[in-house]
Amino acid sequence: MISIKTKSELEIMRKACKITAAARALAGEMVRPGITTREIDKAVHDFILSQGATPSFLHYQGYPASACISVNDTIIHGIPGGRVLKEGDIVSVDVGAYWGGFHGDCAATFACGEISPAAQKLIDVTRQSFFEGIQFARQGNRISDISRGVQSYVEANGFSVVRAFVGHGVGTHMHEEPEVPNYVDPRRGPGPRLFRNMTIAVEPMVNAGTCDCRILGDGWTTVTADGKLSAHYENTVLITDGEPEILTVTEGL
Ligand code: MF3
Ligand code: CO
Repeated sequence: MISIKTKSELEIMRKACKITAAARALAGEMVRPGITTREIDKAVHDFILSQGATPSFLHYQGYPASACISVNDTIIHGIPGGRVLKEGDIVSVDVGAYWGGFHGDCAATFACGEISPAAQKLIDVTRQSFFEGIQFARQGNRISDISRGVQSYVEANGFSVVRAFVGHGVGTHMHEEPEVPNYVDPRRGPGPRLFRNMTIAVEPMVNAGTCDCRILGDGWTTVTADGKLSAHYENTVLITDGEPEILTVTEGL
């Protein structure tokens, strides 16, 4: 079942999403050569708690941290630890915060110091693909209209969209219906119709090479099959009968 949020529920979600977006921004500001991913995770964790919220990811299906920090060829679900970031890395940070009974979910990929033009292009195309998708995120359209918007922009720029993981509804649970794929597939059909006051996480995961991925032995870390770079961009989005509203909005991200 796809949940439709009430006006008062949306007020709570706005707040949860505001905390989530601020945690993402904080993490992004910390990305620099010499820092460990664990230090960034700790700052995210402490910030979320300081806001009276809880980190949505911590202990979710056994996940051991508050943020996912995915470097270079890691697509998603990188577990923070002792890895030291170095100049030229690209660093995807995914965070979720739970406040007042609702979740916010967002991610972005950050440059660590100077990065190659090719890496910067991947980050830029990934971010823009989100906006290319959500221009179709309005009442009456189908989920697949968003998917098509993302995929066609990514592929026109010579990159590939990950298929093994998808976006999702978000609300009282971090993962709700419907699935929000970043690709269209006749076997999937057009997906459900969008309705005002649905909230969805739209999250393109974009690879420089093949879309195929592999999960490491820790059961989480998801890397590109060919070892090439990957980027991620995600926001929690409210469907309206007009323009979509980005709930995890941050100045400049
Ligand atoms: N933003 C991710 C998602 O949408 C977060 C899940 S990571 C987990 O699925 F660690 F919490 F599982
Ligand atoms: Co998500």
